[in-house]
Amino acid sequence: MNNIVVSIIIVVVLLAGAGFAIYKIAPQTPSAAPSGAAAVSRALIGFSLGTSHEERWQKDADLFTARAKELGADVQVLYSGEDGNLQISQAENLIIQGAKVLVVVPYDAVASKAIVDRAHAAGVKVIAYDRMILNSDVDLFLTFDSRKLGELQAAEVVKHVSKGAFAYIGGSPTDNNASLLKEGSMKVLAPLIKSGAITLPVSSFSTNWNPEEAYKSIKGYLATGKKLDAVVAANDGTAGGVIRALIEAGLSNVPVSGQDADLAACQRIVQGLQTMTIYKPLNDLATRAAEEAVLIAQGKPAQTNGTMNNGKIEVASYFLDPIVVTKDNMDAIIITGGFHTHDEVYGKK
Ligand code: BGC
Repeated sequence: MNNIVVSIIIVVVLLAGAGFAIYKIAPQTPSAAPSGAAAVSRALIGFSLGTSHEERWQKDADLFTARAKELGADVQVLYSGEDGNLQISQAENLIIQGAKVLVVVPYDAVASKAIVDRAHAAGVKVIAYDRMILNSDVDLFLTFDSRKLGELQAAEVVKHVSKGAFAYIGGSPTDNNASLLKEGSMKVLAPLIKSGAITLPVSSFSTNWNPEEAYKSIKGYLATGKKLDAVVAANDGTAGGVIRALIEAGLSNVPVSGQDADLAACQRIVQGLQTMTIYKPLNDLATRAAEEAVLIAQGKPAQTNGTMNNGKIEVASYFLDPIVVTKDNMDAIIITGGFHTHDEVYGKK
């Protein structure tokens, strides 16, 4: 043993004497202050979500965190549970902690402008994640085109029923997507209303996207003894409330739309209780958001494929494609795609 050590020392001394440089390798400590690319790779990114009710948001946060970590960033995820003021103070907290970029799913499209203002005052960039921050200088918007989505929802319902009494059950008035979805759906429904083919006796928004509100809207209308022929519901949560009210009134064959490919909605679709949902590939959205956040933290330009006006500026945006899911392509899109398993959707055999 001692002989080996002595031999190594002799070799090292000889090599040094022969002009070889001997480098000292410093121990790697995570707290060592890195520089250049290494410093950026450890940037803190804050992910602030103004809601966690729907099944999707936890997936968004997990996928985002995994990709950002892979890229060497640290992520702190904070949920404010439908409390706009709490979301603003959580964002302030993330700024104080040194976040380089905030990725925000705003609870309140209007009030969350304060997050952008405070972040910018501290030199922090802000990405709006799947919900726009209105009248602000937000740096980037990543989303599925909600107008297009609303159009797809109504078009799929109209394929099944194109006359009679329709209901429109929208999302939360505090979420800009709710307006965009309705705008998109009305592109399909308005001409039918105009031609007299359909009427729209129910048209409401649902505070906080609450399924209970959707239930009450439909329940209340049906309690008057009138019937409905179709319902365009803005997401799967509200669709769940709508379908409960329809079933209670013995109307389980009325076409109903949704969005998010929530497990409960996929189950209802294969059972014939819901007509369609929209699968939004969350992995693509979350992964891209993480990649953009890291680029932005490095001071590099974001990659975009469009813009969206938010009332103040044309926001640099990246739009992803939503996919309509019905009974017919459930297996190909949802099961083969790995979003839910066969047993989850159809129940164990
Ligand atoms: C999202 C939907 C979601 C809804 C409720 C919307 O902004 O686009 O996917 O269902 O919020 O959280």
